[in-house]
Amino acid sequence: MRKNIVAGNWKMNTNLEEGILLAKEINALVAKGINDPKTGVIIAPPFTHLHAINQVIDNDKICLASQNCATDEKGAFTGEVSVKILKSVGVKAVILGHSERRSYYGEVNETLLKKLNIVLENEMKPIFCCGEVLAEREASKHFKVVKEQIENVLFSLSAEVFKKVVIAYEPVWAIGTGKTASSEQAQEMHAFIRTLIAEKYGSEVALDITILYGGSCKASNAKELFSKPDVDGGLIGGASLVADEFMGIVNAF
Ligand code: 13P
Repeated sequence: MRKNIVAGNWKMNTNLEEGILLAKEINALVAKGINDPKTGVIIAPPFTHLHAINQVIDNDKICLASQNCATDEKGAFTGEVSVKILKSVGVKAVILGHSERRSYYGEVNETLLKKLNIVLENEMKPIFCCGEVLAEREASKHFKVVKEQIENVLFSLSAEVFKKVVIAYEPVWAIGTGKTASSEQAQEMHAFIRTLIAEKYGSEVALDITILYGGSCKASNAKELFSKPDVDGGLIGGASLVADEFMGIVNAF
């Protein structure tokens, strides 16, 4: 059976001191016990904090993730950070294809395919983001857009490898806007994604894939969102920067 996950994407927030403090607070609250101990807790701090944060968290209870990685393993790529470097500081999962990376840094399918393969080859977990912008939803193109994002990158994988992927549906119009998708809208898209997977890899694989919702998810709306059968947790931005609020989302399961 698939795993429920709540992942915090800190984005470009916190300095090192603040980041370590936040990680320690989350770690202490997780150590006290969470409602459903099977829920996976992931945090994705900025690159510069990863090594230090890895020292202050219980790695059996909190999984350390990065928000991005380089397309290549090593070499002359000024300013980039490879999966091998990330792995050496304790990172186990990598967020890929976040809409902010797609829109501000021109990440296209070809880029994401390279990153996806390199993450998987290094036995790390990719959290692959997809989602439509407002104009696409208003033009009723949201299913088509998400289908293409998934098919053009993830469906190049064999079933065996695909099983290792976590998908995050993040409608761009809901990110950082306070305008959460309704639980019905989230469920509708998650069910659609699961059907796509079933058609490609069979229903057994489809039922095993964790699909997270992201976009203005907070402690007050998480329970309703997570009550939907195909919503297996959340990828949390703003609300992951306050330990109590983040844990409120974790404990929504
Ligand atoms: P917010 O939770 O701030 O809307 O951000 C969602 C997100 O982009 C997580 O990756």
